[in-house]
Amino acid sequence: MFESLQAARADAILGLIAEHRNDSRPDKIDLGVGVYRTSEGVTPVLDVVKKAEQILIDTQVSKSYIGTAGAADFNAAMQALVFGDDAPDERLTTIQSPGGSGSLRVAASLILRAAPDVTVWASEPTWANHIPLLGGAGLKLKSYPYYDTDKHVIRIDEMLATLRSLPAGDVVLLHACCHNPSGLDPSIDEWAAITEVVVERGLVPFIDMAYQGFAKDLDADAHAVRYMAARVPEMIVSSSCSKNFGLYRDRVGTLTILSGDSEAREIVDSQVNNVVRTIYSVPPDHGAAVVSLIIRDSGLRGDWLIELATMRGRLQKMRGLLSDALEEQAPGHDFSHLRRAVGMFCFLGVSAEQVAKLKQDYGVYMTDSSRINVAGITRDNVSYLAEAIAATLPAA
Ligand code: LMR
Repeated sequence: MFESLQAARADAILGLIAEHRNDSRPDKIDLGVGVYRTSEGVTPVLDVVKKAEQILIDTQVSKSYIGTAGAADFNAAMQALVFGDDAPDERLTTIQSPGGSGSLRVAASLILRAAPDVTVWASEPTWANHIPLLGGAGLKLKSYPYYDTDKHVIRIDEMLATLRSLPAGDVVLLHACCHNPSGLDPSIDEWAAITEVVVERGLVPFIDMAYQGFAKDLDADAHAVRYMAARVPEMIVSSSCSKNFGLYRDRVGTLTILSGDSEAREIVDSQVNNVVRTIYSVPPDHGAAVVSLIIRDSGLRGDWLIELATMRGRLQKMRGLLSDALEEQAPGHDFSHLRRAVGMFCFLGVSAEQVAKLKQDYGVYMTDSSRINVAGITRDNVSYLAEAIAATLPAA
């Protein structure tokens, strides 16, 4: 049977991990996969996670099944973290999911059960795995304009015009904050305009929140979710704890569905749990139990907020450092857009050929689109990086 298969293409993002690992050059730089790194180039286990894990080891009495929705205390804590104090609880269903990707996958199946003919509209560009993941589940996907690759701004008018042309019931996939890959988020006014069109046209927002706390802070980063939740009848929100808790490989996330009323919520709740049972049965527990302990304990939560602020601050600092170094090394070229982005990513704004040259000649790794993860920048490598980038640019 398997002889009929062709080898699959390496993943555009995860494939870079192995490529970088196998490069023996000492000054190689990894700006590829979106993981946080310290100035020593390490993706650490947060101290607060270590503390919570110890508590868990000392107190956990069973590893028996909990159920398809995962742990109720985790779900309640995450719902509050994402939706805030004014959450419309009676209309919300939150389940624990295996990371953000698991959440997206369950959402895809739920959408297919509810409305098999709808189209999901994703930003152009979007996270490289959005299309294969949601498309692979069977959803129809199309894109709306989002990023202007020349001016490095959001194409808000074209985005709104596209949304205005959609049929009622279509789904709009949005990034809550730290848009991946561009690093450019809509302003407060732009979120209001997007929401207005969504309501007017009867569209269903599907918000992916993978970086809560990485742009400004936990509440500001949840603005889009909370603003829309107060105004739309139905909504889907996928949330991930991979980045803000550094729990990448533990697979921790949630899927929340906002239903039109509490009766509809009951039905959605039964359907979403049934979907889970048919895909992975029950979610992994360890990481979620750790997150639950941290969010619900004021001391641990305080420790976490400090570590989160440190990660956020370092990303912003490194972005500025690269922008300064490029100003010096590449006079006549404008990289000011780097400073406008937030979170882990932004586009460098160079061609796929230049990306290939950076990899081949300098051991600098990034996705073909020239998306860079600024966490890979350090005070020690930034000059080398800027020199390498400058050397691949056309004459100004
Ligand atoms: C990324 O965009 O690099 C991260 O979200 C990791 C991934 O799974 O692609």
